[in-house]
Amino acid sequence: MRSLFSFFILTFILQLVQSATKPCEAQQIHIALSDAFTSDPATNNTIKAIFHTIDECSSAYISLKTSQGTQKIQATAVNFFNDTYSTGSYSTYVHIFDFPQLEFSQTYEYSCFGSDNTFLGKPQGPFKFYLPSPNYDGKETRVVMFADMDHFPDGMTTINGLGNLSLSDFGSISAFIHVGDMAYNLTGSAGKRGDNYMNTIQKFTAIMPYMVTAGNHEEEKNFSNFNMRFQMPMYEESQNHYYSFNLGNMHFVSFNLDLVNSYPETKGPMLTWLEQDLAAANSTRDKQPWIIAYAHQPLYCSYKDNSCPVNAKKFAEFEDLLIKYNVDLVVGGHVHFYERMLPIKKGAVAPFQLNEDDQNFTEIINPEAPLYILQGIAGHRGEANDSQSIYKGKSFSVKVSKTLSYLSVRSQNSTHLLVENMRSDDGTVEDYFSIVRRSFQEEPINETNLTNTTEPVNATESDNVTESNNTTESSNATNPINATEPSYITESSNATNLTNTTEPVNSTGPSNVTNPMNITEPTNSTNPTNATEPSHQTEPRNVTFPSNMTLPNNTTLPSNTTQPRNITELSDETKSDNSASKRNGFFAFVFTMCLIALFV
Ligand SMILES: [Fe+2]
Repeated sequence: MRSLFSFFILTFILQLVQSATKPCEAQQIHIALSDAFTSDPATNNTIKAIFHTIDECSSAYISLKTSQGTQKIQATAVNFFNDTYSTGSYSTYVHIFDFPQLEFSQTYEYSCFGSDNTFLGKPQGPFKFYLPSPNYDGKETRVVMFADMDHFPDGMTTINGLGNLSLSDFGSISAFIHVGDMAYNLTGSAGKRGDNYMNTIQKFTAIMPYMVTAGNHEEEKNFSNFNMRFQMPMYEESQNHYYSFNLGNMHFVSFNLDLVNSYPETKGPMLTWLEQDLAAANSTRDKQPWIIAYAHQPLYCSYKDNSCPVNAKKFAEFEDLLIKYNVDLVVGGHVHFYERMLPIKKGAVAPFQLNEDDQNFTEIINPEAPLYILQGIAGHRGEANDSQSIYKGKSFSVKVSKTLSYLSVRSQNSTHLLVENMRSDDGTVEDYFSIVRRSFQEEPINETNLTNTTEPVNATESDNVTESNNTTESSNATNPINATEPSYITESSNATNLTNTTEPVNSTGPSNVTNPMNITEPTNSTNPTNATEPSHQTEPRNVTFPSNMTLPNNTTLPSNTTQPRNITELSDETKSDNSASKRNGFFAFVFTMCLIALFV
C-alpha cells in the first residue's frame, strides 16, 4: 500500500515538474524572410529565426538540416528584454538566428535547442520550411495576407485555417503577411498575452515566413514589445517601421502609418525612403512587374467612423507616391470588415477597362491607379464593425463582408494578379478578382471586348459626403461604366443592407464639389483606350505633387525608438532574478530526489 501511494505521489510530482515551462525550452518559434530578399541586400541572410526562453540559456542553438548535412547555428544575438506594463512586469530572452547563404526554392528542416540538457528544455521540432526565391522563375508566386487577429476569443478560426493551409499548400505559399494588430495586445496580462499568442500561432510561424507590420495595437511604449519580437528585412535601418522585399515576380513594400500618427516627424524620412524604393521598383518591372503595398491604416474604406473618412487626406503624400509609381494593390486593416475597391485616385474611381459581360468586376484591366483592399477581419477583438455604419453608395466599393477571412494573392504571371478572399472556417473563396495588365500580353488587345472607360468624368456622379467628424470628402466619382449610381455593390452573406445605394443621411448633396486634398489633377492623363500604352511604365506618370509637400533630408528615425537591450547589459537586479530562477530549478530537482529517496 505504501509503495502504491509513493508511486502516485512521485508520478504527480514528476508531472508537475514536466508540465512547467522549462527555463531553456524554446518557445514562440517563428521565421521571417531576411535581407537577401531585398532589392539591395545589406546582408546575404536568407531567413531569420527567433525563439524565446525564460532564462538566459546562452548555449541555445538551432540544428539546420540541408543537402550538405546538418549545421549547428549559434544565435547572432541573445537579447534580454524587460518592461513594466499596467498589468505588471515582463521579461524574456530573445534568441535570434541567421540562416545565410541557403539555396532558394528548396525545403529545409531545423530544430530548436534551448539547451542540450533536456531537464532544462526539450528540443523543439523538427520544423520543415520552404525557402522561396526573390527572383522570378516562371512559376506563380503566392502570399497570404490578413490583419487584426488575436488568438482568443475571436481569431482561432483563422489561426486554425492558416495552420491547415500552411500544411496543405506547403511549398506553394511563400509567406504569411500580417498587416498589423495582433493578440490585442502583445503587452496584455503583463506581456503573457503576447507570449501565448506567439505560442498559439507557432503552428504556422515555425514553418512559414511570418512577415509583419505594426498596427495601433502594437504602439504601446513606442512599439518596443513588437520590435523585441520581430525583425523584418532592413531591421537595422528601420526597426520594422518600413521595409520592402521581392518574392518571385512581386515587390512588397510595408510602411507604418501608425508611427506617423504618433510621431509626425517620422513622415518625412518614411516618405523619402518610400519614394526611393518605389522609384527603384518601378524601374525594374521586367523583374518584378507587380508592386503590392501594405500598411495597417487603410487609405480607403467605406466605414462611417474610424479611419475611413480621414486617412486619404491625412496620408495624402503616401497616396501620391503609390499613384506616381504605379503600385498595383494596397492592403490595409484596422477597420473590421472586408472590402474590395476599384482603382482609386485621390478619392475618385480611376479609369480602367472591363470586359463587357463582367458584372462582378472580376477582371480589372489596365487600372490607372492602385486597387485597395481592406482586410481587417482575420479575428478581431469584439464584433465586426456595424454594417449600418458602412457607407451605402461609395462609388469605389465593390464588395463588403463581415465573414472571418484572409486574403490570397497570386501573381500568376506578369499580366495577371489573382486576389481571392478566403473564408477562415472552410477555406472557400468568398470573393475574387484579377488585375490584368494587357500590355504585357504578346497578342494585341481586342478592343472590341473592352468597355470604353475613356469618357470624361461626369460631374453629376460626385457624392460630396459630410462625415460625422465634419471632414468633407469628395469622391468625384468616376464610374467608368456608366453615369448611374453604382449598382455593383455585391452583398455578402453576413453583411446586411449593403445593396441600398442611397446617399448617406448626412449627405450634403452633390453640389459644392471640392477637391479635399487640394491636389492638382494631372491635366495630361493617359488615354486609357490606348491599348498599346504600357501600364507598367518605367517612367512615372505625370502626377502633380502637392505644392506644400517637401521631402526632408533627415532620414533618421526618432531617437526614442528603443532597441532590445543586449544580454551583455544585464543589470545586477536582472542577474539576481536569473540566478534565482536557476536556484529554484535546482531546489525543485533536489526536492524531487529527496521524495524519491523517502518513498522508495
Ligand atoms: Fe488597428
